[in-house]
Amino acid sequence: MSNNWRNYVLFFAQEHVAFRSAEITSLTQKFNIPIKYSVNHNEQQPFWLVELPDDKAAKDLASRSISLRCILELWGHSNCTKNIHTVVHNYVNSNFNELKSVFDKSFRITVETYNKHITQKEKVERIETFGYLPIKGEVNLKNPEVNWWYIEYYGLDNLNIPEKPIDIVFGKWLVDGRRSLLKDISLKTRKFIGNTSMDPQLSLLMANQGLVGKGDLVFDPFVGSGSLLVAAAKCGAYVMGTDIDYLMLHAKNRPSRISQKVREKDESIRANLRQYGCDQLYVDVLVSDFSNSIWHKSILFDSIITDPPYGIREAIERVERKEQSKPNTKTENDVHFPSTSTYNLSDLYDNLLSFSAKHLKLGGRLVCWLPVFKSDYCEEYLPKNNSLELVANSEQDISAISSRRLLTYEKIAEPCAELEETGNSEIIAEFRNKFFTYGEETRETRRMRQAELRAHGKRMAMLRANNEHKSSA
Ligand SMILES: C[S@@+](CC[C@H](N)C(=O)[O-])C[C@H]1O[C@@H](n2cnc3c(N)ncnc32)[C@H](O)[C@@H]1O
Repeated sequence: MSNNWRNYVLFFAQEHVAFRSAEITSLTQKFNIPIKYSVNHNEQQPFWLVELPDDKAAKDLASRSISLRCILELWGHSNCTKNIHTVVHNYVNSNFNELKSVFDKSFRITVETYNKHITQKEKVERIETFGYLPIKGEVNLKNPEVNWWYIEYYGLDNLNIPEKPIDIVFGKWLVDGRRSLLKDISLKTRKFIGNTSMDPQLSLLMANQGLVGKGDLVFDPFVGSGSLLVAAAKCGAYVMGTDIDYLMLHAKNRPSRISQKVREKDESIRANLRQYGCDQLYVDVLVSDFSNSIWHKSILFDSIITDPPYGIREAIERVERKEQSKPNTKTENDVHFPSTSTYNLSDLYDNLLSFSAKHLKLGGRLVCWLPVFKSDYCEEYLPKNNSLELVANSEQDISAISSRRLLTYEKIAEPCAELEETGNSEIIAEFRNKFFTYGEETRETRRMRQAELRAHGKRMAMLRANNEHKSSA
């Protein structure tokens, strides 16, 4: 570990906040970066003050982070507008020999406030308070060689915004995070998408949670339109997947874009990878029912990254086992679509964890979403397996009553049949029922209330008409 720690500001986008801590922890593990957090570390705040060994560590971290806007070299930090200048001034004086060449370069100062809007005039006033910096270079707003950031933080409560900032940082830009990737692989311009295609930000966060790296082999057993394969391939991994839905895998189902009447002939997961220059990382996708494993016991994946069906927007199906085929079953030469029955959600998660325990390399990760009926949630709810350790668990709201959790498991031991354990299967199995029953109850209540309101309205109208009649008489 380095003895010369340096101070940096991790400056985050204020989006998917619940995932950022897990992402930073995963990336520091991936790049083997030691990190120290400031004493007043607050995960909710858009900037974190951290110590890292050197600029290379900061650049490695940013090279994969989707949550980070950028990383700054910290020049000053204070909770008081006057004091920040004393701190910055002292920093410049004590490090002048190292910093002096910076002041000869073209520059800009970017002012950003969090949870408070300030005018352009106020921004310029803030910039002018840095008049003591010995800057000799020209201002260049478009393409400066040096970009300083001045950030004021006014807390998280937008109903109670303080007069003055409660935290202020000033720093020199060092490196951007990888948020530019979000536009590069946007679903809007992607060749092949489905109804449940995962958005690029969450897909890339999942790849980071999976510690996906160059040359890895990544598998998605519920691959759908392959969004998670796109993210993994963007991280340099070879990718493969399976899905029970033949029409989806062959892009023969109904198009998901409203503007599109029929699918183009060359839509496919492979075409998506080609679109993003990752064609060479495509291994294959197969039509297969996950409940009926097709894999040889020796196959090992570096990561399994998946979004299983929850039964809300897509069916959870498995191929039905029939001891005797029906009299009308077609002959072997005909195309035959086997009939399917419901795949119990708790069985699906049990299968997913035991499959991962068998087919992940040691230290490999399973990253998957789990739907949760909020009032049911507790630690016991989570699927468990003795070979897998839960290392991250971040929640994303779906509605007032339900959410989904991104679970990250790491394989810590080879599986042992007697020791396999599972989470509270009954509760998981109930998710779909509860989701729809609750919906029906509220719709029903709403219908009753609306009917009551209409009846009330009619009564009031009759009373008004009676009163008018009486007063005019
Ligand atoms: C939530 S979607 C996955 C979406 C995907 N991540 C994407 O970006 O398009 C779940 C997928 O699981 C598939 N599925 C359902 N039951 C399955 C089973 N028993 N085996 C394999 N795939 C199954 C569905 O056809 C669906 O495509």
